[in-house]
Amino acid sequence: MEDSKKPIGIFDSGIGGLTVAHAISKLMPEEQIVYFGDTAHLPYGDKSPELIHSFVQDISQFLIQKEQCKSVVIACNTASATSYEFLRDKHKGVFPIINVIDPIVEEIVKDSSIKKVGLIATKTTVESGVYQEKLKRRNPNIEMEVLATPLLAPMIEEGFSQDKISHSVIENYLSNPKFKDIDALILGCTHYVLIADEISEYFDGKVRLFDSTDILALKLRDILKKEGLLSKKKESKNKFYISDLTKGFSESASRFYGENLRLELMKLL
Ligand code: DGL
Repeated sequence: MEDSKKPIGIFDSGIGGLTVAHAISKLMPEEQIVYFGDTAHLPYGDKSPELIHSFVQDISQFLIQKEQCKSVVIACNTASATSYEFLRDKHKGVFPIINVIDPIVEEIVKDSSIKKVGLIATKTTVESGVYQEKLKRRNPNIEMEVLATPLLAPMIEEGFSQDKISHSVIENYLSNPKFKDIDALILGCTHYVLIADEISEYFDGKVRLFDSTDILALKLRDILKKEGLLSKKKESKNKFYISDLTKGFSESASRFYGENLRLELMKLL
């Protein structure tokens, strides 16, 4: 099969990356996507980089070898922080590997009015220091404050948004003095897109929010175009696999994707 007709592989620790998958599908409806959510090992956000790394190796092998994907998108900040360099070097010159961190960093440095940036993310992403290092390298004058916000992902997964519980958790985190005077906030976890409006309201719309949906989809389209890998016509239906299928995941998956979808169980081990 011609490479351009092959699917785009997208993976995350669970269903959060469906927000990224949807943005990709919306921008490039002629592309087939194969999504893998590693729900059996979720959450990644409080696991060690070594363990996450081993999961990532199995998933990328599945997407590249079994599903014949032409490119792999790491639709998870935590896995991007721990394993992007490894995957990129392993597949250099063969498959484009895209992470969710670089496109956000590139977008932030384009806006010279941004002097102070906040980051909310999982513990592992914050502790990796990857956002901090990449942003400082591109713009040494930018000030950055980071905060691990581990309650947000499970809260969102359980469907809490625009209510008393979400208001109180969001306020508790964002009222941290670190975030005083920030011009921009990175939503450094794929789940957080679902509460972007609520976060924006918290800041009265005065703080620019960056997430990995549209920014990443545009970046991916550029890369596929440059590599001659853009599909002209969708050959097969999208596939959505998860490594542990429960009623809860099935119910919330459509909320994350923004459209109805059917999850299939795929055990890699
Ligand atoms: N989706 C993951 C991310 O973007 C967070 C969820 C988890 O902890 O597994 O970092």
